[in-house]
Amino acid sequence: MFARARAGRYAEAAEVTEVDEATMPLEISMSYTDPHSYTDLSQGRVCRVQLHLNVDFEKRCLSGDAHLTFEGLRQGFIDLDTRDLTIIEVTDTHRRSLEWSLGERDPILGSRLRVGLARSTEGVIVKYETSPGASALQWLKPEHTAGGRHPYLFSQCQPNHARSILPIQDSPVVRFTYKAIVNVPDPLVAVMSAAPAERQPGPEPGLSSFLFEMPQPIPAYLIALAVGDIGQKDIGPRCRLYAEPQVLDNAAWEFKPAESILRSAELMFGPYLWDRYDFLVMPPAFPYGGMENPRLNFYTPTLISGDRSSINSLVHELAHSWLGNLVTNASMEDFWLNEGFTVWAERRIIETLEGKEAASLDAAIGRKSLAKALDRFGEDSPYTRLKTDLKGIDPDEVYSQVPYEKGFLFVTLLEQSAGRKQFDRFIREYIEQFKFTSITTEQFLAFLEEKLPGLAEKVGAQQWIYDPGIPENCPKLHSKRLSELLYLAEGWEKGLRPEFGTAHKWRAKEWLVYLTNIPAVLSFEDCKWLDVNFNLSNTPNAEILTEWLVKVASSGYEPGFERIRVFVGSMGRMKFLKPIYKALLEREATTELALELFNKYRETYHPIAQSVLARMIEDQLTAQFPAYKVGSA
Ligand code: BES
Ligand code: ZN
Repeated sequence: MFARARAGRYAEAAEVTEVDEATMPLEISMSYTDPHSYTDLSQGRVCRVQLHLNVDFEKRCLSGDAHLTFEGLRQGFIDLDTRDLTIIEVTDTHRRSLEWSLGERDPILGSRLRVGLARSTEGVIVKYETSPGASALQWLKPEHTAGGRHPYLFSQCQPNHARSILPIQDSPVVRFTYKAIVNVPDPLVAVMSAAPAERQPGPEPGLSSFLFEMPQPIPAYLIALAVGDIGQKDIGPRCRLYAEPQVLDNAAWEFKPAESILRSAELMFGPYLWDRYDFLVMPPAFPYGGMENPRLNFYTPTLISGDRSSINSLVHELAHSWLGNLVTNASMEDFWLNEGFTVWAERRIIETLEGKEAASLDAAIGRKSLAKALDRFGEDSPYTRLKTDLKGIDPDEVYSQVPYEKGFLFVTLLEQSAGRKQFDRFIREYIEQFKFTSITTEQFLAFLEEKLPGLAEKVGAQQWIYDPGIPENCPKLHSKRLSELLYLAEGWEKGLRPEFGTAHKWRAKEWLVYLTNIPAVLSFEDCKWLDVNFNLSNTPNAEILTEWLVKVASSGYEPGFERIRVFVGSMGRMKFLKPIYKALLEREATTELALELFNKYRETYHPIAQSVLARMIEDQLTAQFPAYKVGSA
């Protein structure tokens, strides 16, 4: 155990250790604290990580060691983030044992691992094991994969789950390069957010080793690992697709435009600095649409619809290669810097690829989802600010469309006020200035003032960023097609209906605008009319299907319930599960159905999705029936 008196001495020692003086005015200060991490920058920073991990599917754990190298020599102590890790031993780089203590487990932060650095040292080696319940990891049984024969493991580290895989300064302000040796049982393949690795003989028969290297510095939340029966197919000079062999061909067709999207993004934002741009199509349990893990984006298989109608998601994660991965939010309180800018970039790229009309439909769909989020939180809620105060708040619990869509509107307002040409130059300078660093909203504002003086004041940036709700000067995005669709949708009550022949040819975006603008609750006859005419229950596009099933649930349209049962049992994407469960819970007649389905399928969802959904269900039930209690996650 760590003695109190010792801690004091170490603290003094830390002061005499050489520290990196902040020289750049736009750099983050040494006293900066991230509300979701135990990281203390005055203790030093990890700048290199070497992982040695064995993947054990039987015990559902990763075991091995993490070798963390500091920027310069450090003395005193260093605090690392962990969650549910079993620490076996901590040594310095000469394998001399070090004292350590593990703090109490905080439900949001996990447990602080404090390591005493008796002498000045360049790093520490922590021998450890993960827990079967590690919040980042989902261990899938063979029956939950496409192939059905092999187990599968994948990680999701954003926002603060990397600490359940390795002891690390798990705050985006700390960036490091990494190398990893991952041993997996044959014939499985390991992939990581790093340069691709070849299979090599493992430490014992029946095991193979994969060696990864990530030479560009990344924050911990961008570490990613997947292990399974994973095949590959090159789809461009810099692009390779990884997926289970059964989905490889369809996925390759769907993702084929990747290389050309990459080229149009480079024209806007400058060269792609991550060398390769590969993708992994995940098993259906993946809790997000996509995750921008560098060099190897992760995607839900629900994007594979056979018509490339989900290209936006690809564009979105690719845009993160600049906005998010090169310039990173300092903490989840500045999350809008990642997502707001990325959604803006996504729509700019869509505009070049598909035209203004398409981008305006996307903006309208986004605006609607923002309205829903504002409704849910309440216009005055602090969660509708761009810069949030998340001390004591679990970022997964307050995840919403606000940083995405309010962020998009604010960046669009900046673009419109500065003029496109000027603003595009600003964005390139912004990326150039801050690449491979993690910044706060205030650093962004300082840079904006330096480059485009007066613009922040002119658009009311303070109000946009620090106040709840949507300011009056919110940009309005019009287009001819959008007006037509809105006219049609808003005329629903008056009996206006889409023409059978033309609506059949609508693109997914058009359907989404339409469905999100007709009334939320429809009569039995109206539901039947929509489903019979447009076969919505069988649409290959999962976004449209979700909109439809939410209507089915809100309208209590029983013939659609079977499709709900199948859908919520077939994938784990939170963006689809949350609104469907919510709509079922809101009607007394389907509350039981929601609970039945959740209890039946919760084990097939990722730990993050399980806890987010359990909390959502519990909140909703206690609001509706104060005496209700759901079993714990
Ligand atoms: N980085 C996010 C996903 C994320 C955010 C994971 C916060 C964990 C915490 C990713 O880039 C994203 O925004 N995904 C969207 C995709 C969409 C906007 C195309 C999603 O999953 O819905
Ligand atoms: Zn994103």
